[in-house]
Amino acid sequence: MLAACSGGGDSSPATTTTPAASTNSAPVIALANNDQAGQVGYDFSYDAAQNGGTFSDPDGDALTYSVSFSSPNGLADANGAISGISDAAGDITATITATDPGGLSVSDSFTIAVSVDQNAIAATFGASIDLENLENYANQAIPAYINKLNEGGNPISDAGATLGRVLFYDTSLSIDGTVSCASCHSQTLGFSDSGIVSTGVAGGQTGRHSMRLINTMFADETDFFWDERAPSHEAQESLPIQDHNEMGFSGQNGRPDLAVLITQMEATEYYEELFRFAFLDPAITEAKIQLALAQFTKSIHSFDSKYDTGRAQVNGNNANFPNFSAAENAGKDLFMQAPNNGGAGCNACHRAPEFDIAPNSGQNGVFAVAGSTTTFDLTNTRAPTLRDILGPGGAPNGPFMHDGSLATLRAVIDHYNSITEPVSEPPLAAFRASLDNRLNPGGNPQRLNLTETEKQQLEAFLATLTGSNVYTDPKWSDPF
Ligand code: HEC
Ligand code: HEC
Repeated sequence: MLAACSGGGDSSPATTTTPAASTNSAPVIALANNDQAGQVGYDFSYDAAQNGGTFSDPDGDALTYSVSFSSPNGLADANGAISGISDAAGDITATITATDPGGLSVSDSFTIAVSVDQNAIAATFGASIDLENLENYANQAIPAYINKLNEGGNPISDAGATLGRVLFYDTSLSIDGTVSCASCHSQTLGFSDSGIVSTGVAGGQTGRHSMRLINTMFADETDFFWDERAPSHEAQESLPIQDHNEMGFSGQNGRPDLAVLITQMEATEYYEELFRFAFLDPAITEAKIQLALAQFTKSIHSFDSKYDTGRAQVNGNNANFPNFSAAENAGKDLFMQAPNNGGAGCNACHRAPEFDIAPNSGQNGVFAVAGSTTTFDLTNTRAPTLRDILGPGGAPNGPFMHDGSLATLRAVIDHYNSITEPVSEPPLAAFRASLDNRLNPGGNPQRLNLTETEKQQLEAFLATLTGSNVYTDPKWSDPF
């Protein structure tokens, strides 16, 4: 616990003459510090000099103090007085050194044991959340060939994503306590929904099909939703809570607004503990809700597909993958190659190896409003990654496209094989004006003329894009 040092002087007395300073004596410890305790997110304040009582100086010299930490974890020293907000759990060794004007010094070390206040979390979530032993969200392994990254200035932390997980699964974030994000974004369906549209509070329905939330961070397109109306992941994340039909805190038609929800959350003990832990401050704001939810959804990674196993063994997508069947390799070639090169042209917009949407994509010829034959929607230029369009059992993770109009992969391939124009005005002219040029060669909707075998090959390749861990990993599961 205590270590005296000579202030850097020579320590072989036999060969040195006694310096004048030898009349000076080093300070000594008078009252060693006891070990201290702190909690993450709370103010810590302790005077390690104990108001001058920790050390005494035989010569009566005035002493100066400094404290060093094995790891400061949010704490700082001012002449022996330690203060700050602890930002990590664990033991810190603090060493206070007293120095006299002659440079002689003595030190006293003690431990600051920092724990986490998580009583309400333990009571609510049991073993599924332990803030002193977090799941790994921030440092997941990402294949070397994945280069696109959209962090949105909000890098994932394990604490932030843990809070985001609770928010994602909490039905108390809806006005009647029945709907959470997971109601429409189910882990077993690649965080999508089996319905053509989804049902929110009080029977409210969404206008579009739910989107899979897989690998959203590995993309060039930074706008979110099918029509790209949300300018960032973060901006998107609190909209469903405030959507009248989704979670209902809209402030419209007599419904409460987000401020009411935040007041309710501030009275919820597990949120007091979680926000304090993640943000070192228990105050709840919309911005913090967005950051935490975005960290959680961005942490949903899927990189253990058959495609990944093959891609890791070769230099690029054009090489034959050793682990693929002949049909899968042929389907891969069809996906990658342009139509004027014998391919189906998919990669121009759904770009391997992330299979994210090309930022310059126009609409792809699916023009209806979900469930309608009389209203049209030509604004959809974004798709989720084409990874995990099928689940591990081979069935689609819900119907495809913004209107959920295509139930099978074959229906998707048939759509691109022969794009059907609307039969009349509206929306024929607007359709022609907005259909992506790549699907409108020579001003005519695309005809790929794929054979039955080629369609099967394309289906076989698309099935290789499905992972397995993302459907079962407890860190993305319901903690309640
Ligand atoms: C009632 C169903 C429903 C609920 C509840 C819901 N969503 Fe969604 N989500 C959807 C639908 C439908 C879309 C596509 C909407 C559109 O494009 O207009 C979507 C889109 C998204 C997207 C955009 C994905 C992309 O790639 O552009 C994200 C992210 C998302 N939701 C996250 C959340 C979060 C976080 C919550 C909870 C706060 C949530 N959702 C609650 C149905 C829902
Ligand atoms: C010109 C760009 C473009 C090309 C080329 C293209 N797509 Fe798309 N794709 C889109 C857009 C945009 C959407 C979302 C449109 C919508 O929902 O209305 C989409 C949606 C999809 C979806 C639905 C995704 C989901 O989550 O529901 C699948 C599957 C798909 N495309 C597969 C393919 C295949 C296979 C090919 C090649 C035969 C292909 N696409 C070619 C732009 C393109």
